[in-house]
Amino acid sequence: MNEETSGVWNIRVLNVKTGETFQDTANILVSARGGLNQISWPDIKGLKDFNGKLMHSGAWDESIDLRNKRVGIIGNGSSAIQIVPAIQPLEGLKLSCFARSPTWISSSFGDAAMEKMGMDPRDTKFSRRHREYMARNPDKYSHFRKTLEAEAAKLFPITLEGTIERDGAMALFEAGMRQRLDGREDLATAIVPKFAPGCRRLTPGPGYLEALKEENVALITTPIQEVTTEGIKLASGECVELDVLICATGYDVKAPPTFKVTGRNGTTLAEKWKPYPQSYISIAIDEFPNFLLVGGPNSGLGSGSLISVFEAQGDYVVKVIRKMQRDDYATIEPKAERVADFSQYIDEYFKRTVYTDDCSSWYRAGKTGSRIVALWPGSSAQCLEVLRSPRWEDFVFETADETGNLLRWLGNGWSLTLTGGDPSWFLEADVVDVPEEGKPEESEFYKRRPFSY
Ligand SMILES: NC(=O)c1ccc[n+]([C@@H]2O[C@H](COP(=O)([O-])OP(=O)(O)OC[C@H]3O[C@@H](n4cnc5c(N)ncnc54)[C@H](OP(=O)(O)O)[C@@H]3O)[C@@H](O)[C@H]2O)c1
Repeated sequence: MNEETSGVWNIRVLNVKTGETFQDTANILVSARGGLNQISWPDIKGLKDFNGKLMHSGAWDESIDLRNKRVGIIGNGSSAIQIVPAIQPLEGLKLSCFARSPTWISSSFGDAAMEKMGMDPRDTKFSRRHREYMARNPDKYSHFRKTLEAEAAKLFPITLEGTIERDGAMALFEAGMRQRLDGREDLATAIVPKFAPGCRRLTPGPGYLEALKEENVALITTPIQEVTTEGIKLASGECVELDVLICATGYDVKAPPTFKVTGRNGTTLAEKWKPYPQSYISIAIDEFPNFLLVGGPNSGLGSGSLISVFEAQGDYVVKVIRKMQRDDYATIEPKAERVADFSQYIDEYFKRTVYTDDCSSWYRAGKTGSRIVALWPGSSAQCLEVLRSPRWEDFVFETADETGNLLRWLGNGWSLTLTGGDPSWFLEADVVDVPEEGKPEESEFYKRRPFSY
């Protein structure tokens, strides 16, 4: 809860194991919980009546031995696509895969980059010798990383409707899937989509298509009517008896945190984010001062490196904290108009992308046609540029000064450079006057990019 008078967050923390609670306070609260953490059970009649073992892919029960069991798995998103080939070879297993939508299985991410560097894309274990070689040759390691990152970032045009890259990817993936399905027209008809690749999350899925061809696996696309005590009843009336039912049915991406967050005027985040989450460039929310997001809504990527975005969001948080410390501000809050602007931008941007094609996807707030809530509206490269340099004019600040002198931040005339720092710093590039901890030159990011705000 934000205590408006002092600009401080009051935080009540619950130890879920012991049930104990404790209180803490913070000037800045950062939510870095991401979007894929609240598991979503399928809304299927009778699910809880199932007499066998019921589990979700996001809460795997390691104690369950799947050998010699009749196992059902609902879904064909990234989770099911990885689980199916992993469990298919188990002794005596009979696997029924319930998939109501087609899905693209792409080539592995980074394959082209690996080939470009003369490396075998299947060899991703990287031997100790190879790692030591990279450690001794930082230029080579840097080249390797940059090639992978650049190739991933340059995939961006496949996410745009009307590009040759999008059409090329579709033809390439279809040919790849058909080749891997090796004449199994029944499977190809069921699983190869008509919508553009990337509309729902692209998954490479090594071994998935091959597993579907195995004798102990059945792909079932007939809709599920209900779950019974014995298994699954299909809309055709057929019953599939099961010992274990795995729901690889994803996550509730649009849900606010399970813990209550109360901002200004008693507004809760759950209320604020109805009917869907909105933010200022995925990093902050109006009415929630000093509350920052890493991996918040609309910060996922359909192409490019998500880790680089999360790192840039972390750097953005650091820039906010430094600005508040140096300029003596108690609160920072994005302007509501800018949140509305970003929201409008999102709606317009996605119209010309593959993400609004006719597919079911967790990128959306709900059914096909609803708003894209999980993706950044742009390329990964553009996102990094946006985050690199905060536009402070998009925020409202409240001073921490009680005297009315808004230049109190000038301090007492001393500079930390005079007490152990470098008073001639201005002769060197990329160096700024900051306290010892968190010096910019300690961060790889700032070595490459001059600190700016
Ligand atoms: N890095 C990794 O190794 C890794 C691994 C796993 C997951 N992930 C991340 O997690 C994301 C989510 O993946 P996920 O596979 O867990 O979830 P998901 O992509 O949202 O897939 C959920 C699946 O469950 C199906 N489903 C949901 N409700 C259903 C119902 N009532 N009846 C029948 N089918 C139902 C969906 O069908 P429809 O498509 O028809 O709606 C879909 O096939 C991934 O896209 C990825 O970003 C990452």
